[in-house]
Amino acid sequence: MVSNTTDRSRSITPRDIHIEAMRKKDLVRITEIEAQVYPTPWSARVFLSELSHRRERSYSVARLDSEIVGYSGVMYILEDAHITNIAVDPAYQRRHVGSVLMHSLIFEAIDYGSKNLTLEVRVSNQGAQRMYQSFGFMPVGVRKGYYQENNEDAIIMWAYDIDGPAFIDRVNEVAAARSLGPRRRRRRWPL
Ligand SMILES: CC(C)(COP(=O)(O)OP(=O)(O)OC[C@H]1O[C@@H](n2cnc3c(N)ncnc32)[C@H](O)[C@@H]1OP(=O)(O)O)[C@@H](O)C(=O)NCCC(=O)NCCS
Repeated sequence: MVSNTTDRSRSITPRDIHIEAMRKKDLVRITEIEAQVYPTPWSARVFLSELSHRRERSYSVARLDSEIVGYSGVMYILEDAHITNIAVDPAYQRRHVGSVLMHSLIFEAIDYGSKNLTLEVRVSNQGAQRMYQSFGFMPVGVRKGYYQENNEDAIIMWAYDIDGPAFIDRVNEVAAARSLGPRRRRRRWPL
């Protein structure tokens, strides 16, 4: 079921994308996308559980007009921010929606006080790996058989010192090259 009326073939730019906090009412659309992009999609129940951990999790949606076209999630553990999920509706992939989500979550993690970002990605998911590498993530190890349904290995990637000038310069360069526009602020963390 497609729950929107947006013309999906129209040309869009990253500046048309707005980042907002994920809400429970978004989960119908999010689980629709989830089912299209992952072999073992998260259920609404998993998202609800994540959303209930307000202090250590941050989930966002990317909106084009009223339609949700992507989403991301981060888990904060001490100085590390772990990207738990990032996905874009297949109809909108390769139009820099994923980059807008990354751009936003990187600065949100810096605001939160994180020093490093990490994630796991399937060995076969080269498109996602390319996006992460473009933002300065490096592969540092492998988790054998991490994805149980096909026993696929995960590559562990890290970006270190995310509040330092080298990383921020790199992110700013990517943002300029992809015309991501200004960083999207969506939440002010309590200090
Ligand atoms: C990974 C994902 C979020 C990327 O979102 P996206 O909006 O398509 O990515 P972007 O358009 O911002 O791509 C940024 C850059 O990453 C690289 N990239 C992204 N997808 C790629 C692909 N399929 N093949 C090759 N390179 C790719 C490109 O360098 C791209 O820049 P360019 O288009 O200017 O060349 C999206 O493909 C997705 O939802 N995949 C399914 C879910 C998933 O795998 N999530 C990651 C789990 S670890």
